[in-house]
Amino acid sequence: MKAELQAIQAEALEALKAVKTPDALESLRITYFGRRGKLTDVMKGMGKLSKEERPVIGKLANEVRATLTEAFEAATQTLHRQQQEQQLEEEAVDITLPGRKPTYGKAHPIMQTLERIEAIFGQMGFQVVTGPDVETEYYNFDALNTPVDHPARDLHDTFYLTDGRLLRTHTSPVQVRAMETQKPPIRIIVPGKCYRVDYDISHTPMFHHVEGLLVDTRATFSELKGVLTSFARQMFGDKTQMRFRPHFFPFTEPSAEMDISCAVCQGKGCRSCGGTGWVEILGAGAVDPAVFEAVDYDPDQVTGFAFGMGVERIANLQFRIPDIRTLYENDLRFLRQF
Ligand code: DAH
Repeated sequence: MKAELQAIQAEALEALKAVKTPDALESLRITYFGRRGKLTDVMKGMGKLSKEERPVIGKLANEVRATLTEAFEAATQTLHRQQQEQQLEEEAVDITLPGRKPTYGKAHPIMQTLERIEAIFGQMGFQVVTGPDVETEYYNFDALNTPVDHPARDLHDTFYLTDGRLLRTHTSPVQVRAMETQKPPIRIIVPGKCYRVDYDISHTPMFHHVEGLLVDTRATFSELKGVLTSFARQMFGDKTQMRFRPHFFPFTEPSAEMDISCAVCQGKGCRSCGGTGWVEILGAGAVDPAVFEAVDYDPDQVTGFAFGMGVERIANLQFRIPDIRTLYENDLRFLRQF
């Protein structure tokens, strides 16, 4: 039995050396220490030994068990360490690798222009107000003194929706919405998307307008000119020249269009201004009394002025974009230039 114990110890120590995984270690442990394990079997056989032999073999058996227990413990720890080292190696970060450069997003050129327009009017006391893109005929046309048979409706090439509503053709309807919910004085600008059936080098079916409205007890046309002149000088530079031409809009009377000296050629005449040296940038006028009546304002008590401009046109003068359709084709090579 002594030889048997010694053989078990030698064999187990040898087998331990070959163990590579926790599973293998566990099954080896069961081979020796399990209920039917080799060492357990020997211990069970002790009862059959003689009185003289029993203490000697018992002592040896305890020694073997202690040695093996220790060896298994050591093997467990070695395995554990090896596993940790392997994991560390696998998860290692090579801090000497060059980093990846983040790609920064930027505001779209139209948004950059819009933000500038908002900032300039904001500093003159105008508040930004918005309204729905899907409008009713009432807000888009009727309340703005443009009844069904009015020829100005034809100019708008409207996208009509199936339920009688439409995609707004300008942000002017928000004038009406604002006056319905507020009492004068009002001083607002309305940036937003507009839609018209139109597509060529200078038109896209979706584009942006900024509408402006000022209503007070005594808002004058000269105040309107002052506000717009200040805007144009800040937007296009101190040397910018302005001219107002009489025009017609259903919702203003009198009405005008404002031209600025061409920012591309400084008024000398170039392709951008069709050789005239002037570019039209907005429509404006004194609010028509019919619009005040639509919102229950008394035209004898209040006066106001309004203006509306196309943001694409202004961005075009700023950035000199030959074909405005490129603004909406999402070609990053184009957009990254701004
Ligand atoms: N809504 C006009 C358009 O679509 C622009 C405009 C002109 C707005 C004159 C105004 C205005 O408020 O007074 O072209």
